[in-house]
Amino acid sequence: MTSTHHHQPAAGHHAHTNHTDHHDHARLAAVLDLDAELMADYLDDAARMIAESLGHAPARIADLGAGTGTGTEALARHFPQAQIVAVDGSPDMVALVERRARDGGVAERVTTVVADLDDGLPPLGSPDVVWAAMSLHHVADPQRLLREAATSLGPDGVLAITEMAAVPRFLPAHDDVELRGLQERCQTAATGAGWEALVDWTDAFDDAGYEVLRAETVHVQRSDPSQSVARYARHWFAQFRHRLTDTLDPADLALLDDLTDDSDPDAARRLDDLTLSAGRLLWIARPRTTTISTPESE
Ligand SMILES: C[S@@+](CC[C@H](N)C(=O)[O-])C[C@H]1O[C@@H](n2cnc3c(N)ncnc32)[C@H](O)[C@@H]1O
Repeated sequence: MTSTHHHQPAAGHHAHTNHTDHHDHARLAAVLDLDAELMADYLDDAARMIAESLGHAPARIADLGAGTGTGTEALARHFPQAQIVAVDGSPDMVALVERRARDGGVAERVTTVVADLDDGLPPLGSPDVVWAAMSLHHVADPQRLLREAATSLGPDGVLAITEMAAVPRFLPAHDDVELRGLQERCQTAATGAGWEALVDWTDAFDDAGYEVLRAETVHVQRSDPSQSVARYARHWFAQFRHRLTDTLDPADLALLDDLTDDSDPDAARRLDDLTLSAGRLLWIARPRTTTISTPESE
């Protein structure tokens, strides 16, 4: 496995060096791993659709905003001949990608790059697939990244982008009307607040010169392992509590406090009894080829 620091991250929101950043990254990394554990089926479906759109298995893949490398590893497993370059702005995340690649036995096919995508794409080596899972909404200028990705792709290469289709729902096994109602209101509030992870890029592809080959919603429902579903639910309820403080009414905030109180056995019982229902939007797009008309062709 080779790794590159494409640049030193500048001071500011992409500098990942102080204790708070490390703490935030550890928390984000844990959630990304949990997310991938529970949403594994979507990664399988996405890999299959990518191969169908390409018409063959990819030989080279770039994973932009690779996080802990769950996508890198899934794609490496699906495409055993593929070389993968995983890019992330965070050295902490890149270290996790490298560890995952080693543990998964795919390290010899994975190259990592620490680079801020806001500074432009690092050299990717003409990949057949540029994969960006839940990362496009993080960059400062998504249009620019889409255009750069089009230029970086090898002949007939495709771009595959995923985002959350909606905030995940946690369906109680028993008729817990209170919990269902709370989530309805949280969903409405999160959508109204324009949560950045809920983005539809369909028009952006067209503007950046892509033809969309597939636009799919992949649904996942699962209730096991129940402890993982409970931890994921707790994460989302904590997000609602902290990010929707100004929107939700006090009774809902108090209920979210109860549900995220680790010392409350009633909260543990309610969280242990849930089915996750979530969706991912997946777009596969190819740069449009411009046909140059010549006098002979007219
Ligand atoms: C929500 S995570 C998604 C990670 C992974 N693709 C997944 O599906 O689990 C977004 C990732 O993008 C990275 N990221 C955000 N902005 C970035 C930027 N400007 N340059 C490079 N990486 C960035 C973050 O460090 C983080 O690892």
